Amino acid sequence: MNTETSTFPLSLDDLHVSFGGNRVLEGVDINFVPGFNGLIGPNGAGKTTIFNVLSGYVKASRGAAFLEGKDLSELKPTDRVSSGISRTFQSPKLILDATVMENVLLGMHHRFKHGHVTELFRLPNHRSEEDRAREICMDMLEEFGLAEDAHKETGDLSLGSQKIVEVCRALVAEPKVLLLDEPAAGLGADDVTVLLKGLRKFVDEQNLCLVIIEHDLELVTSICPIIYVLHFGRIISEGSAEVITSDPTVIEAYLGKGYAPESNDGEGGSDAV
Ligand SMILES: Nc1ncnc2c1ncn2[C@@H]1O[C@H](COP(=O)(O)OP(=O)(O)OP(=O)(O)O)[C@@H](O)[C@H]1O
Ligand SMILES: [Mg+2]
Repeated sequence: MNTETSTFPLSLDDLHVSFGGNRVLEGVDINFVPGFNGLIGPNGAGKTTIFNVLSGYVKASRGAAFLEGKDLSELKPTDRVSSGISRTFQSPKLILDATVMENVLLGMHHRFKHGHVTELFRLPNHRSEEDRAREICMDMLEEFGLAEDAHKETGDLSLGSQKIVEVCRALVAEPKVLLLDEPAAGLGADDVTVLLKGLRKFVDEQNLCLVIIEHDLELVTSICPIIYVLHFGRIISEGSAEVITSDPTVIEAYLGKGYAPESNDGEGGSDAV
């Protein structure tokens, strides 16, 4: 990889993935920047597979990913979280019979200084650390309008709220890079507004690098200054909303010939952020 990698929060270099004989990613090169980065493309294009490689669940057959220039290839999934990569899933992966607070606390696990002995005997150090962690999680839930649900069983929340709980769990890990896999799918308009406002705050205040996979094109084009279009495992276009929505290759492969890019006039969802 060239020396440029270290200047980006997250870089993909010539990433290849195959499942059996099925080539799913074929030479993906992306330098993600701080702020909102969009990743779009048809079903089966390989978008979630990119996240799975970044989280360490899927091994690249060729190429590598770099976090601030550091090769991630040999890191286990848990070490990637402590290095600064957090994610959410297309279908939320939460413990449904645990409370919302308990699920969010899991995101802070690697930040706990004291080990299992203090935990086992509930020594003072452990208790004060846990109290502090609960405060941080509560603040996060408050930020995303879910403080009142903190002590509810997670399975009792709507799917939209569960997706926001997952975002909270990812954010309490204090990531440098946050990967969101279709965060707005299943959310009502009000929830989307709350979600985007919260995310905007972290992007602005902590220079977070956020990569968002989303099929809602209006949403992606309204919040992401740069968007990557993946098709059959290759990046076929990249650039601003205007660039990718007027790119004939993208119209042919994804948007459809009848696509008229009227959503680029700043109307609609962009008000939220
Ligand atoms: N673990 C796996 N084993 C075998 N094939 C897989 C595996 N994971 C993904 N695939 C295949 O890889 C291709 C890309 O899948 P992926 O989930 O990355 O697509 P996607 O772009 O996220 O699609 P969608 O928009 O529907 O979520 C699909 O053909 C999928 O069936
Ligand atoms: Mg997917």
